[in-house]
Amino acid sequence: MRNINEDTITQAVIAAMCACPNPRLLTVMTSLVQHLHSFAREVKLTEDEWMQAIQFLTDVGHITHDKRQEFILLSDTLGLSTLVTAQNNAKPQACTEATVFGPFFVEGAPDYEHGADIANGARGEPCYVSGQVRDLQGRPVANALIDVWQSDEDGKYDVQLAHASAEHEHRARGRLRSGADGRFDFRSILAVPYPIPHDGPVGRMLDALGRHPWRPAHLHFMIAAPGYQRLITHIFRNGGTYLDSDAVFGVRSTLVADWVRHEPGPAPDGTHSEMPFYTLQYDFVLNPAAESVQA
Ligand code: BEZ
Ligand code: FE
Repeated sequence: MRNINEDTITQAVIAAMCACPNPRLLTVMTSLVQHLHSFAREVKLTEDEWMQAIQFLTDVGHITHDKRQEFILLSDTLGLSTLVTAQNNAKPQACTEATVFGPFFVEGAPDYEHGADIANGARGEPCYVSGQVRDLQGRPVANALIDVWQSDEDGKYDVQLAHASAEHEHRARGRLRSGADGRFDFRSILAVPYPIPHDGPVGRMLDALGRHPWRPAHLHFMIAAPGYQRLITHIFRNGGTYLDSDAVFGVRSTLVADWVRHEPGPAPDGTHSEMPFYTLQYDFVLNPAAESVQA
């Protein structure tokens, strides 16, 4: 393998992988090499541009740590996350649609009972959320594990605050179980639009491309129940800004819902709210897991 030139390099790299024992890895890497080389040929990538790309990816790596995932931001802002989510989550129309996961989910958030205040000190206008988890036949799905997470009124997730000190740990996030009737309810705070972290290389990329970093107001859900596909989604706030220009391309019309504003008075949890509050009602429909469809 000598004297490789711009016409023979692609085949040479593919041939070098021929002993790969993993057929899927070989398929993925062969295609990646082909597309990467085609891209470099198509744009006639210069050495300076190649070096800039190396520096950019180095910066993405350097800013990434367990609470800051710049690679996910990069994937999200390039539309790759939405593409992968869409092509892996085709399901019957009646099922709740999936959307991007984002970088702010935290494993092991606190467990809450129905009606609990998951804001746990996060600041924002009160919001009462309720709904039901159902299957495609309209039957309640009991005991589904519902993970929910959102930003505070400043558009910040707990993990972005004050180096995520113990004081800010697990704010505006938690886990609940649907009841025997599939229902759930909790108190939280009003979702607001916020910019994705844009003080790093991905923010500089957006800037250079004339793009803004904002996401429309939303609440994240991950719902898991035995016999059903895990659902990762958000509910977006109707009437808000950025619904048609989400920086990460995550909005689906079926996921847009009304947050209803109420004047001070009796609240859904039986208390009297001294301040205006919001309610959100949204039902989720889960897709059976592939194995249970065949069974
Ligand atoms: C989020 O909604 O939490 C999110 C999604 C993609 C990128 C950044 C944030
Ligand atoms: Fe979010």
